[in-house]
Amino acid sequence: MTEHAPRAVVTAGTGGIGLETALGLARQGWDLTLVARDPGRGEAAVARVDEAAGRRAGRFVGADLSSLAETRRLGERLAGDGGLDLLVNNVGGMWTGRRETSEGVEASIALNHLSPYVLTEALLDSLAAAAPSRVVTVTSSAIAAAQTVFDDAEPPGPHYGLAATGRAKLAHLAYTMELAGRLGPRGVSVLAADPGAAATDNAAQMTIDILPPALRPHWDAILKGVSAPVADAARAPLAAATDPALEGRTGLVVGPDGTVDDTLLAYVTPELTKAVSRWTAELLATAARPS
Ligand SMILES: NC(=O)c1ccc[n+]([C@@H]2O[C@H](COP(=O)([O-])OP(=O)(O)OC[C@H]3O[C@@H](n4cnc5c(N)ncnc54)[C@H](OP(=O)(O)O)[C@@H]3O)[C@@H](O)[C@H]2O)c1
Repeated sequence: MTEHAPRAVVTAGTGGIGLETALGLARQGWDLTLVARDPGRGEAAVARVDEAAGRRAGRFVGADLSSLAETRRLGERLAGDGGLDLLVNNVGGMWTGRRETSEGVEASIALNHLSPYVLTEALLDSLAAAAPSRVVTVTSSAIAAAQTVFDDAEPPGPHYGLAATGRAKLAHLAYTMELAGRLGPRGVSVLAADPGAAATDNAAQMTIDILPPALRPHWDAILKGVSAPVADAARAPLAAATDPALEGRTGLVVGPDGTVDDTLLAYVTPELTKAVSRWTAELLATAARPS
């Protein structure tokens, strides 16, 4: 039994769904490490976490998770803290135009898949040391719009934010399910959480250009979705992180209402998981090569 407060790391934890998840955890007695880039925003988020907990419960650790080198350094630093009860891989997003990171990786792949992959792998021993522990990855129903081809870094044709993010989230969901099988024997539950849509900073910068032309008639419905309260969107990651009914269960998706919902798992086949695993290894090797 843990004598200290249980410890969680929440990536992109100083705003949006990550901060709301952190606040919910703080109210339930957790200690929080919030990872993000901006120290001012970090300080403000830690103050809110401390207030929610009624004690000093938060700390900010700065890192740009679009950089795989920086994510590796973060992983080493956090692994040095010892046992970790919960890792919430919340970082991610969707952008209107195609963006590249400083390491030459398409941004939605870097932030929705490679960065959480690198951080999780760095923290496996810390999570196992605190077992029973959990990894929760924030996924998205954008998976339904994904191109499911993983034989090149990016699929051919025009870049649409929804399809690109959907593909990166699908890759990460396949990894999440593979990891669940690997970590089950070590007492670590690995779950995905679909928050639904919410009015976050990331959602506010989206335009209709994220949609492939065939989906543009749905833009008004999408806009309505991303006007939903951010606190509601934290329900899924919070349930995945703390619901006692999920104790010892792994390889599941928790839907926006906080209950198990396997709809997105229909997209994850054994063939796709193998293709994603090869694709991920190739991308990581390429990103590591100096240009
Ligand atoms: N919003 C939605 O409708 C929706 C729907 C489905 C799924 N999701 C998923 O939910 C998760 C959270 O989304 P959100 O909408 O809350 O995002 P968001 O509004 O962009 O989240 C803001 C947080 O991300 C941090 N952040 C942004 N870029 C970062 C980087 N490069 N490195 C480290 N931290 C970074 C920000 O801090 P700094 O700027 O200081 O770094 C801040 O803490 C994502 O995985 C997203 O795909 C969201």
